[in-house]
Amino acid sequence: MTHRPYVIDELISAKAIAARIEDLARDISSEFADTNKLVVVGLLRGSFVFIADLVRELSLPVEVDFLEASSYGDGMESSREVRILKDLRGQIEGRDVLIVEDIVDTGHTLTHVTKLLKSRKPARMQTIALLDKPARREVDFKASYTGFEIPDEFVVGYGIDFAQRNRNLPYIGKVRFEDES
Ligand code: IMP
Repeated sequence: MTHRPYVIDELISAKAIAARIEDLARDISSEFADTNKLVVVGLLRGSFVFIADLVRELSLPVEVDFLEASSYGDGMESSREVRILKDLRGQIEGRDVLIVEDIVDTGHTLTHVTKLLKSRKPARMQTIALLDKPARREVDFKASYTGFEIPDEFVVGYGIDFAQRNRNLPYIGKVRFEDES
């Protein structure tokens, strides 16, 4: 699969992403205006660019932590079973938490992660996903904040990979195989 030649067509520009993040950050900053510190939890690895830009737009005291859940391996198919590969460093009991994800696809990852983190009894917990592919949903999950709804396309860039490539593109692009139209 991954050796098939492909091209990347731009779907969301860097400028559009930056503008949307400004809006989302304004809403989150007002929702958590009274927090003494928001724990912003990035899901590795796909959210690393998004979380970096998002936290710099938040007008709140923040702490950053990371969690890694298993997902696609090196291919394009999501696995149903979600495992925690790297847990948080900090405690979240009684804290305000924002979970930051790159894409909600089938919904399995965020369903599992929110259930797990809720069991640790945060004071408040919300989720944000840069992208949402509602057509692919297998379990009912909706992030509290969503950047863009996108069609059922495989996307890369802005932290998101295809077989560990293309994370460094500044925009979101969709993968098009050259042997398809
Ligand atoms: P879910 O558990 O199916 O919702 O999967 C979420 C994870 O699948 C995301 O965090 C991504 O790592 C990965 N994923 C879903 N769609 C894409 C895509 O179009 N490109 C790259 N990774 C994706």
